[in-house]
Amino acid sequence: MRVVMERGKEDGRVLNLVRNTEVKDIHQFRLAFTRFMLNYEFGMEEVLTKINILKAEFSQLHDYSPIEHVTSRIKSPESIMKKVKARGFPISIDGIRDNIFDIAGIRIVCSFLKDAYVIANMLTEQPDVELLEVKDYIKNPKPNGYRSLHLIVEIPVFLSHGEERVRVELQIRTIAMDFWASLEHKIYYKFESDIPDYLKDQLYEAAQMVGELDVKMEGVSDAVKALHPDPDAEAGARIELSPSTTLEDLLKNLQ
Ligand code: GTP
Ligand code: MG
Repeated sequence: MRVVMERGKEDGRVLNLVRNTEVKDIHQFRLAFTRFMLNYEFGMEEVLTKINILKAEFSQLHDYSPIEHVTSRIKSPESIMKKVKARGFPISIDGIRDNIFDIAGIRIVCSFLKDAYVIANMLTEQPDVELLEVKDYIKNPKPNGYRSLHLIVEIPVFLSHGEERVRVELQIRTIAMDFWASLEHKIYYKFESDIPDYLKDQLYEAAQMVGELDVKMEGVSDAVKALHPDPDAEAGARIELSPSTTLEDLLKNLQ
């Protein structure tokens, strides 16, 4: 304001115009960004609902659920900006939307190896879920030993003005893989990405053990299933509902 007063009237008007335009632009960008981030929350909620429905269905109809637990997070604006700048993407809403696919992230932890693929199929076979990318670090672990099944899916979100398509990153892994990844993540940060070689070797060895443990546990689980098939799943499959099905029929089948 002081600068404006010192200059001529004309200059002042121009300066004010520039300032107002900038403030307006910042305001507009902030509004657009808030709206943009909200879409990811909605998209994430939709996928979480799908996962919760599957989890509830399994826990009510079977004596076992492939989904152990689920966590989710929205990337902070600071982390988004850091990634955009580090990778040289355009600093704009479009630049972020088209290049950063892990703004909405969901991690599904399962008990057994097979479950990771069962869960991935159950989700991606749903007609409104479009699968954009698969990175199978279970079949092909990363050089440090990291294992997980990564999917990028796109889901429609219906808003007052119409449909928005939102990308969500899914990480599906076993309890053992999750145990390894969380420790490795902590160590990575502790050493600011520069982990000493002997620790890297130990982590790699531990990752191999995780791989072996998962195969072993799956073998045990298969053996148990062969001896004790899930009776509830069979009962569920036997029930055929028709208009003449009585409550008595249902109860008989569920016994
Ligand atoms: P990002 O830019 O980190 O998203 O990498 P990317 O685009 O190559 O994707 P990638 O599928 O390899 O990794 C995505 C996410 O998986 C990461 O943000 C981590 O959450 C997780 N991840 C990948 N590699 C590792 C790893 O070596 N250790 C741990 N703990 N997590 C990993
Ligand atoms: Mg990421």
